[in-house]
Amino acid sequence: MSGRPEEERPWVGGMYDYYLGGTANTAADRAAAEQIMTSMPEVRLTAWANRGFLQRAVKRMIEEWGIRQFIDLGAGLPTQRHVHEVAAESIPDCRVVYVDNDPRIVERGMVLLADTPHTTVIEADIRDYQAILSSPAVTKLIDFREPVGLLAIAVIQWIPNEDNPWGLISKYVDGLASGSYLAMTIPTGDYQADKVKSAIRQVYGTKTTRGVSRTHEEATRFFDGLEIVPPFQGAGPVVTYVGMWGAEDPEEADDDPARWVRAAVARKP
Ligand SMILES: C[S@@+](CC[C@H](N)C(=O)[O-])C[C@H]1O[C@@H](n2cnc3c(N)ncnc32)[C@H](O)[C@@H]1O
Repeated sequence: MSGRPEEERPWVGGMYDYYLGGTANTAADRAAAEQIMTSMPEVRLTAWANRGFLQRAVKRMIEEWGIRQFIDLGAGLPTQRHVHEVAAESIPDCRVVYVDNDPRIVERGMVLLADTPHTTVIEADIRDYQAILSSPAVTKLIDFREPVGLLAIAVIQWIPNEDNPWGLISKYVDGLASGSYLAMTIPTGDYQADKVKSAIRQVYGTKTTRGVSRTHEEATRFFDGLEIVPPFQGAGPVVTYVGMWGAEDPEEADDDPARWVRAAVARKP
């Protein structure tokens, strides 16, 4: 928005940190987040359902599938039990590259990660996949001959259809070794579609960037050519809702806030 200093503008990552109960946000983030929560208090539960999926997916990638390095696209702030913290619970030397296009996230992230080895945060627009994959900060930590955990969690809504987000994700996957995994979450365009769209429009469309929600079919297309992992016992290889992925009791985990975002993890053959 023109005419207002940077620090007075809410940032998506700062609002998200506030939804998660973090403290690395600004007064503008809190005000914008509170505004959205007056009409949709469940957004906090949605944010946690999304973060919970990320945590379960990362843990499984490490403990069951041997992943030792992650690239996290649209990472947000490295707070509230983010990838490097989940990884550290299982192995000591997991390598993590956080990517975000918001300079304030990157600046804050670098401070927060200053004493964390094998972890970095780089400033880039995820559309610049060639620059990201060849960046010295990335190649220093990531060995592309080995499988990678590629995360695109609650970020693809910022890439409009005209920028071909499906082609973009497949460019990243093309650069990864066989046995790599892709984990994505995608805001829904067909469950409570009006509510989700109005939320995105209400704050994100006016004060930050315009976001796009997507249907089940559109979400599933991100995993074309990959082997989708069944999200819970008894399920087929399908995209599901964030709360249900990895849930011991999927029926119990299937609530409204967790149905605002779809998720899947898939293996590159
Ligand atoms: C809702 S937060 C999600 C944070 C984290 N991935 C999670 O799910 O816990 C989305 C993040 O994506 C970043 N972002 C939005 N568009 C982006 C783009 N084109 N390239 C890189 N980062 C982007 C925002 O700055 C924000 O920090």
